[in-house]
Amino acid sequence: MAKATALAPSNIAFIKYWGKRDVRLNLPVNGSVSMNLSRLQTITTVEFGDDKKDRVVFDGRNVKSRFYKRVVSHLDRVRKLAGISLRARVATENTFPFGVGIASSASGFAALTLAAASAAGLSLSERELSVLGRRGSGSAARSIPDGYVEWVAGTQDADSYAYSFYPPEYWDICDVVVMVSKRQKAVGSTQGHALARTSPFFRARVRGLPAKLVRLKEALKEKDFSTFGAIVEAEALNMHGVMLTSSPALVYWEPATITVMQRVWLLREGGLESYVTLDAGPTVHVICQKLNARELSRKLSSVRGVVDVVVNRPVDGARIVKKHLF
Ligand code: PMV
Repeated sequence: MAKATALAPSNIAFIKYWGKRDVRLNLPVNGSVSMNLSRLQTITTVEFGDDKKDRVVFDGRNVKSRFYKRVVSHLDRVRKLAGISLRARVATENTFPFGVGIASSASGFAALTLAAASAAGLSLSERELSVLGRRGSGSAARSIPDGYVEWVAGTQDADSYAYSFYPPEYWDICDVVVMVSKRQKAVGSTQGHALARTSPFFRARVRGLPAKLVRLKEALKEKDFSTFGAIVEAEALNMHGVMLTSSPALVYWEPATITVMQRVWLLREGGLESYVTLDAGPTVHVICQKLNARELSRKLSSVRGVVDVVVNRPVDGARIVKKHLF
């Protein structure tokens, strides 16, 4: 059977997915909006063959943990669709550290979905690929289409999918990713989603989301950066409000997370406009216009506690590449 390799970007959500309507199917409580990231990517090669077991190699090492089980479950979904029972050899590499609040599961499961579907001989539409990617990890649905992406919440498997509403070149905003720790976080997003409903603020959050999503898309349409940024920042803090008030509380921030946010706000007061957003981790994503990206990157690199800064622009979604990992 053919071997296939896919490259997929991570993405940063402007309207976040936090809380599931259906755990088995990864159906979200609400729709979300994101942008694909140019320098935080996963590359994955899959080949189906006669081996007795699936073999998964991550950054050159055999994977055996919980992550292995998640990969095998996802391969099972692909095998079922393709009507095959062959085991797979999978190799995968990231261009960034694992579990620090960059949605590594988004790029990881998007790349695995496309590579495995292609190696299994399936020819799926973009929508079908995003539905399949979603089953691996919700946010992976948004790493399949290009550029600026909306994930429609839907009510069942087939209608919860992501699509591109603007190509990457539509607007040259940047995500300056400011990492403050390279340690793996203690509570993964799978557990986190399950805790969302324990927050007394969750229902209020969910009630406000549809109108917020419309306002965000309107600001994107107008390319109104100040309105757009203000919505993005408030939305991230709203989600973290739910996390902080869950039971048990989820505190993803490190001291340096707050130091970076405060520096961003100070720089903004001084005229260097940018806004923060954070996923389920301590990493701060600083959203700015391209003309300010380099200066922000330089200024934020010198903040105490910052370990790495990576400037990202919007890019295409998952795609097949010719160069295999094995
Ligand atoms: O796809 P998951 O289960 O890793 O959830 C991602 C959740 C957030 O990154 C916090 C928000 C989002 O929409 O990406």
